[in-house]
Amino acid sequence: MDKPSRRNVLMAGGTLGAVGALSVASPAQAAPLWTWSPKGSVAGAGEGADPRGVWDPEADALVASLLDRGAVPEVNKLLRTWTKNSQALPAGLPADLRDFMERARRLPSWADQGKLATAVEFNKKRGLYLGVTYGFASGMMSTVIPREARAVYYSKGGADIKDRITKTAKLGYDIGSLKAYQPDGEMIVTCVKTRLAHAGVRHLLPKSPYWTKVADEKVPISQADMMVTWHSLPTTVMQNLVKWKVPIPAAESEAFLHSWQLSAHMLGIKDEYIPNSWAEANSQAKQVLDPILAATPEGIKLAHMLLNLGAVIDGGLLTKPILGSLTRYILGDEIAGWLKIPRDLFWDSAFEVAWEPFVQVREGLLSLDRAPGILKTVYWAFDEIIRVAALLFLSEGTMPISIEIPTGNNPD
Ligand code: HEM
Repeated sequence: MDKPSRRNVLMAGGTLGAVGALSVASPAQAAPLWTWSPKGSVAGAGEGADPRGVWDPEADALVASLLDRGAVPEVNKLLRTWTKNSQALPAGLPADLRDFMERARRLPSWADQGKLATAVEFNKKRGLYLGVTYGFASGMMSTVIPREARAVYYSKGGADIKDRITKTAKLGYDIGSLKAYQPDGEMIVTCVKTRLAHAGVRHLLPKSPYWTKVADEKVPISQADMMVTWHSLPTTVMQNLVKWKVPIPAAESEAFLHSWQLSAHMLGIKDEYIPNSWAEANSQAKQVLDPILAATPEGIKLAHMLLNLGAVIDGGLLTKPILGSLTRYILGDEIAGWLKIPRDLFWDSAFEVAWEPFVQVREGLLSLDRAPGILKTVYWAFDEIIRVAALLFLSEGTMPISIEIPTGNNPD
């Protein structure tokens, strides 16, 4: 047999990626091979190239050029007025950017309006649980995704984490809002702007002396990195809702997936990497997300910023231990340990014993009388958590939020 080369490994496996060549991860988090087949993707076929070596070439070259020619501040200013999906692009944008955005804002042929309408139903019914899961399953998980934690910490947004959370939460709000991908919704705008922001980060972060010292890749936010983060969102959210036995009709579950598949496409992820079902999503997540979770100093700091979010309510006295225990309950003891989240005897066991019965009681599937006694003591707190989390992570906010292309790093 011929010596295995990158070319014949790719050809033989169809989906096997560049073995090790693209991955310079430290041994502690050695990246697994990319063996996920594009047959399980929304495209149904593809080259099967390792997504760790694929970025977003057209957007990246364009934004790099905008940054190099000093056009970004003016572009950001103009784009603040572009907020609705069907709205014409503002006059005065550079021609190359306008041309790209006109194409990038188009939904793919596989977008299914029926499914999107069902997704709206799901978001309406399940909004309260979605706030908790986006915030404390996905948000907290992002702090143990080393590449994301480092990129966030050393990019411009890392200097003001509250502002960043508000901007990121905008995507969660937009995807779940009534209009989402409709002409008068904002999700397409949010995705296209985020795609441009990511392209900016790819150009700028490699110039950060802080990031380059700790990074294990030359250019951040590859297609693989994006899928990792994607799984920390819908895949992790759905896994938790299923674990908590929240009743979800199959059509709504599929519709929620569809709205996120579409967001992946609109963020510039290639269709051949986007899973076509929950089964495929779970199998891809097992391969790309689970093995890379690890602690970093940057992630620990970000996690504690998230835990301190409730400090505005009570100085952190009660909210910090409660949110810490919620994180421990959702992500497990190992990850809570990495993040140096202290144990709390009362709240740790309250979540362990009473969270699932709480969901069952809320869903009318269990009477409070038959639930564990502790639930009567903590019901108000659990109810408040889901209400405040929904407000924090899924509400529109009072200020207009504009996602912008960064012009520097943190700190410059
Ligand atoms: C910016 C969402 C993947 C790093 C943003 C923003 C959103 C977003 C909404 C704009 C918010 C802001 O400007 O602060 C997403 C989604 C992803 C994804 C939905 C995947 C499906 C990633 C990955 C990384 C990353 C994989 C890094 C490995 C960043 C950074 C910024 C950003 C550094 C810019 C912050 C700044 O302006 O300095 N992302 N992101 N993102 N994202 Fe992502």
